[in-house]
Amino acid sequence: MAFLLSCDDPDERSRIEGKAFAVRRQHTGRQIWFRGLVEISNICRKNCNYCGIRRDNRSVSRYELDAGTVMRAVRAAYNLELGSVVLQAGERQDEAFLDFIENLLHSIHREFGDDFGITLSLGEQSPDTYRRWRKAGAHRYLLRIESSNPELYRKLHPADHDFTVRRRCLEVLRDLDYQVGTGFLIGVPGQSLEDMVGDLLFLRNLDIDMIGMGPYLPHEETPLALDLEDFDKSRQLDLGLRMIAAARLQLRDVNLAATTALEALAADGRERALLAGANVVMPNFTPPETQLDYRLYEFAARGTCSGEQAVAGLRRGIESIGCECGIGARGDAPHYLRRKGKSPAATKSFEIGS
Ligand code: 5AD
Ligand code: SF4
Repeated sequence: MAFLLSCDDPDERSRIEGKAFAVRRQHTGRQIWFRGLVEISNICRKNCNYCGIRRDNRSVSRYELDAGTVMRAVRAAYNLELGSVVLQAGERQDEAFLDFIENLLHSIHREFGDDFGITLSLGEQSPDTYRRWRKAGAHRYLLRIESSNPELYRKLHPADHDFTVRRRCLEVLRDLDYQVGTGFLIGVPGQSLEDMVGDLLFLRNLDIDMIGMGPYLPHEETPLALDLEDFDKSRQLDLGLRMIAAARLQLRDVNLAATTALEALAADGRERALLAGANVVMPNFTPPETQLDYRLYEFAARGTCSGEQAVAGLRRGIESIGCECGIGARGDAPHYLRRKGKSPAATKSFEIGS
């Protein structure tokens, strides 16, 4: 794994990425799956040292979408034949928020049925909350471990953030029959090559179904912000692509997202991620006027676009690299279906002929 991550020979590099692309096709099929992303709220009780919407950043204008607005965004994704949505927000554990999400899940489930995938990305919660949300219709959960090295995790977070709690959440989610996703900040200050190898081993040890990871990008209003002029965009993009290819070669049948952080580094960042083994894209369906308030890092897109425009752009990108768009499929992780003893090809979530 250290070799995959550190190899500098250009021929060897393209061989690694080509192999990761082939492994992706073999295990997750020809299609790139779409999820409509809805950023429900930027209110967060956590204070991660790298994140632009951390609790202590007073310059953020905080918002919460109401249920009607979220439902309109989900409906827009459904009407464009996307097979699933991701509901994301900062972390909150107050009862009003937990109820709001539960009711939302019931509404989505009622209107769009069981063949429409729902992923949550709402941080650390109690086992009881995870259970409630699973019962209300959520299928998948994304919770990044950020770093698998507890030492580095401690440096990236304030003292009241706990690595063990987060890892435990991932285990609970798995026991509750979610498809479980996690990921890391790639190329974050203080990270070594051994840490990155440890991150890949962590995915394997926790038997993870989905991966969402992207390069670290500084945000000037955070404690971790580097001197922005010293920030090496091409190094970060390169590290991100190396991690994607290595993760695909190691984990094989997982769902692996081409994340927005890659797009922030290069216009063709997401297509390059797909060519290196990623198989999921997440067009943003958050109302354009709120998107700029969900700014986790610098270099995030300054302009905004509608979900429809985002899908159109992604379709063009995917077709330009000779891949197929997985529209209409729920797109469950083959890894999850296998560990549940179901054959991916025999389920509705997998396109015919893959
Ligand atoms: N750079 C890259 N990714 C970031 N995230 C938060 N802040 C940054 C940053 N500065 C990622 C974290 C988190 C996800 C919601 O966004 O990995 O889990
Ligand atoms: Fe909150 Fe997530 Fe940002 Fe941490 S990374 S401050 S939990 S939104």
